[in-house]
Amino acid sequence: MTRNMMLADYRFLLGTFSSNCSSGMSVTKVEERWDNSWANNLALGHLLDEAGIDFMLPIARWIGYGGETDFHGGVLETMTWAAGLLASTKTISVFATIHTAANHPVVVAKQIATIDHIGNGRAGLNIVAGWNKPEYEALGLTLPDDHETRYGYAQEWFDVVRKLWASKDYFDWDGAYFKLKGVHGDPLPVRGSVPIINAAGSPQGREFATDNANFLFTPAIDLARSTEEIRELKDQAKAKGRKVDVLTFSHVICRPTEEEALAYLEHTAKTHADWEAVDNLVRLQFAHAHSFPHDLLALIRDRFAMGHGGFPLIGTPDQVAEGILSLHRAGFAGTTLSFVDYVKEFPYFRDTVLPKLDAAGIR
Ligand SMILES: Cc1cc2nc3c(=O)[nH]c(=O)nc-3n(C[C@H](O)[C@H](O)[C@H](O)COP(=O)(O)O)c2cc1C
Repeated sequence: MTRNMMLADYRFLLGTFSSNCSSGMSVTKVEERWDNSWANNLALGHLLDEAGIDFMLPIARWIGYGGETDFHGGVLETMTWAAGLLASTKTISVFATIHTAANHPVVVAKQIATIDHIGNGRAGLNIVAGWNKPEYEALGLTLPDDHETRYGYAQEWFDVVRKLWASKDYFDWDGAYFKLKGVHGDPLPVRGSVPIINAAGSPQGREFATDNANFLFTPAIDLARSTEEIRELKDQAKAKGRKVDVLTFSHVICRPTEEEALAYLEHTAKTHADWEAVDNLVRLQFAHAHSFPHDLLALIRDRFAMGHGGFPLIGTPDQVAEGILSLHRAGFAGTTLSFVDYVKEFPYFRDTVLPKLDAAGIR
């Protein structure tokens, strides 16, 4: 069995986010915006694996956000994407992202166990309980308006998955949402389970995350506020006898000079931002989700254009490294990274920023 990088709790975790989606995390019209082809994802997987990056996290999305680019209109399905990457890499952890309402838990338990065997113990699962109403309508599903029902369903869904992973015994299940007769799981995941991510923002969602997840994702907008939030979440988990680490997501524009980095930010995320798509994205977040604090959401329209609301790591290698260190100091256990063009830009980050993080002792 290979070690799962997500279980390495001695270092600040680094991953990538959304490389399976068209335009990645940048809501921009520039020609070099991310092409989420399989060839590019495979090339990125190899680059990250060889550089010792810890994980790749995909977004599960079924319809785009509109605008001229139809942001996230093109998406590689995450379970099959993860299977392909796990088969082609050696050490990196790869997550699948799953909407509970759109995927039967018996099927998902087996899919995850299977890809975990393909990767020799390197798979992970990001659980999405639902928030994007038009997407649910596109699938013919009903998104419950209240978070109690969304997370009540997600809890029973995950209880079924966990029971299937607990042993190979046959069992019946008589729940509020699932009635199963004579079901069982075989194979089980390599370690009996896999690292679980959840990105809830609502109180009900955070109960779910602290009950079930190993990692909770939350935006880093105001780091003083993040420190407080991380402490509360860890305390909440501790009171349940659990350990939850908090991760965030960042967008990188790293260049030899600050002027170059800022000019590229202006070019991609202001002059050539796909503002119609940005506004659709912000509107849907306001209407249906609590993952971004609503009082801050209106202030961060620019950050949505840059990196889907991610933390800005913009500047020289020293400035980018310092930004990552500031996340570490705030109490985050790791961050994802995104780039306008992941494959083209990651090598400069690898060669200039990673050694600084090593020297600072956080990797
Ligand atoms: C790191 C991260 C990953 C996410 N991945 C997805 C995803 O792949 N698909 C999706 O529909 N939503 C995704 N979301 C959105 C959250 O799942 C959603 O905003 C959350 O369910 C809203 O929180 P709430 O349910 O507590 O209101 C992600 C959010 C973050 C921060």
